[in-house]
Amino acid sequence: METPKEIEALLKEKRIFKPSEDIVKDSNIKKFMDEHDIESYSELLEKASDYEWWWSENSDIIDWFEPWDRIIDKSKKPFFKWFINGKTNIAYNAVDRHIKTWRKNKVAYIWEGEPGESKKITYYDLYKEVNKFANALKSLGIKKGDRVSIYLPMILELPIAMLACAKIGAIHSVVFSGFSAKALRDRINDAEADVLVTADGFYRRGHIINLKANADEALKDAPTIRHVVVVKRAGNDIEMRSNRDIWYHDLIEGQSDECECEVMDSEDLLYILYTSGTTGKPKGVVHVHGGYAVGTATTLKYVFDLKDDDIWWCAADIGWVTGHSYIVYAPLILGATIMMYEGAPDYPKPDRLWEMVDKYGVTIFYTAPTTIRMFMKYGEEWPKRHSLKTLRLLGTVGEPINPEAWIWYYKNIGHERCPIMDTWWQTETGAFMITPLPITPLKPGSATKPFPGIDADVLNEDGKRVIGKGGYLVIKTPWPSMLRTLYKDPDRYIKTYWSKFDGVYLAGDVARMDEDGYFWIQGRSDDVLNVAGHRIGTAELESALVAHEAVAEAAVVGIPDPVKGEAIEAFVILKSGYEASPEMKDELIKHVRKEIGPIATPSRIVFVPDLPKTRSGKIMRRVVKALARGEEDIGDISTLANAEAVEAIRKSLK
Ligand code: WTA
Repeated sequence: METPKEIEALLKEKRIFKPSEDIVKDSNIKKFMDEHDIESYSELLEKASDYEWWWSENSDIIDWFEPWDRIIDKSKKPFFKWFINGKTNIAYNAVDRHIKTWRKNKVAYIWEGEPGESKKITYYDLYKEVNKFANALKSLGIKKGDRVSIYLPMILELPIAMLACAKIGAIHSVVFSGFSAKALRDRINDAEADVLVTADGFYRRGHIINLKANADEALKDAPTIRHVVVVKRAGNDIEMRSNRDIWYHDLIEGQSDECECEVMDSEDLLYILYTSGTTGKPKGVVHVHGGYAVGTATTLKYVFDLKDDDIWWCAADIGWVTGHSYIVYAPLILGATIMMYEGAPDYPKPDRLWEMVDKYGVTIFYTAPTTIRMFMKYGEEWPKRHSLKTLRLLGTVGEPINPEAWIWYYKNIGHERCPIMDTWWQTETGAFMITPLPITPLKPGSATKPFPGIDADVLNEDGKRVIGKGGYLVIKTPWPSMLRTLYKDPDRYIKTYWSKFDGVYLAGDVARMDEDGYFWIQGRSDDVLNVAGHRIGTAELESALVAHEAVAEAAVVGIPDPVKGEAIEAFVILKSGYEASPEMKDELIKHVRKEIGPIATPSRIVFVPDLPKTRSGKIMRRVVKALARGEEDIGDISTLANAEAVEAIRKSLK
């Protein structure tokens, strides 16, 4: 690793990293600019501030069964509609259309399992597999508008199942395979899904995780599910319930490999993806066929400059939006070859990913800062064992990247040759919002500027722009891949995103804009933690804790962590009759993992006699957080009803 001095020098010397001429000259964005007589980056952004122009110029990135006649309908804002009266289907664009071209036998996915086996599937293979499963879903009675929950690991049946749903107009709700039975159950029940697609198990760090057992547990109280389709992945022993459970391979046997695409309106629902908010109940973010397809494909085409000879690797899990948009839909729409890996990035050794980059000749690699920091800890000798010479662009997403990690990534993975695209976006935005293009001068740690057609800003409490100071990150005009609503909860949609400032989308992040108009994202402004790039609401964690019989009250805060970004610390008041023992700590940690999943594992539990509260009984998390971080100055506590709680917590922390 670099010594801090070297990093400091590097940062000072090259505070701005100039665009790579090699990449710029043949880039997709340069081509667009040449075709439109646009000479500079600033001119591009200026011209695209006419966002209707920008998106209409790019709307033919997908094929339309019937063209749209108006680009946007703002009459019921904030319920914006895009590409009015356009008819399309995202699965048609991702798969079917490529079959009619030379891409028919191009590799769509290169897949590698954790134990090391690998498979390549062409666009034509994918087409047939999607059709078979689409017909299979139909045979189970699934039709347009029905919901299908998908709880699968990183195996090819996951994109296949998503595309099959899209093809027949069913709405998928993918639940990350690391989520617990309870999290799965809540999501199935909210979506009122008819079918669950899951697997027997999968590999993680050399062990088989029994996924079906979790699904069975969830289904004890999920009355809408009629059928469970089970992919055989790990061959572990599972229970198959008759009349409900059916093997995937049995179900698709004999199904036709042709299936007509359902003609979808641009605004028809494509999927629901649940994400954490400030209450215990996750929000069902809703995306649609038309605008989402245009937004995701356009961003990937220009930001990562995706071309036909690239091997694209977004090393996320499809269970999160990053995977939905950039492992499944956008790269398939662009007809790319996509790398997909089942297992842990550092298994069996910390060079697993770099070995795969060389083995398959990956050209573009996209991951999270937390993963980069983990690799920094393992040391640069691991990437050094591999040439990494095929790489041409790198990217990050999920949380702010500290300049040290940026430089490490730039030097040790990109060999000072590959620009790093730090992309800021959210489940709600569907696609990159603030991000460099290959023509953008880079500043390590900054996601740089808004994508063309995106009007982002930083506002103070009064709704005025602030420069050089933290403020609310907002987006002031609509964009095609924006969420359309929260599933079955339009009021919460308005309240969460559109109520702080009139007519402006509130992202929930704090950001700072510098004098050059570059954005520096600082973190969440609400009670949502970002643990290893995953959003987890403190309210969700607290309600998981108080669901335990021993817990009277709990306050959860995020503590800075060198690898995970933030770590979870829980301050717990036990009910009388329960003992504050190390066993109780273990038990509560296990309990939270069971309620939410391993990503929500608290790194510390502190038993306290009391928690600081306002007179209206609200826990003052800000105070707890300051105490947990060991800060001397804990801010104004004059509104506390029980100031003595502060000393009590200090004592418990000793
Ligand atoms: C954070 C993931 C800084 C941010 C695509 C956002 C980032 C939340 C970045 C969304 C970035 C994402 N720099 N912070 N490049 N990208 N975030 O919905 O707090 O899982 O609001 O979507 O991650 O997380 P989500």
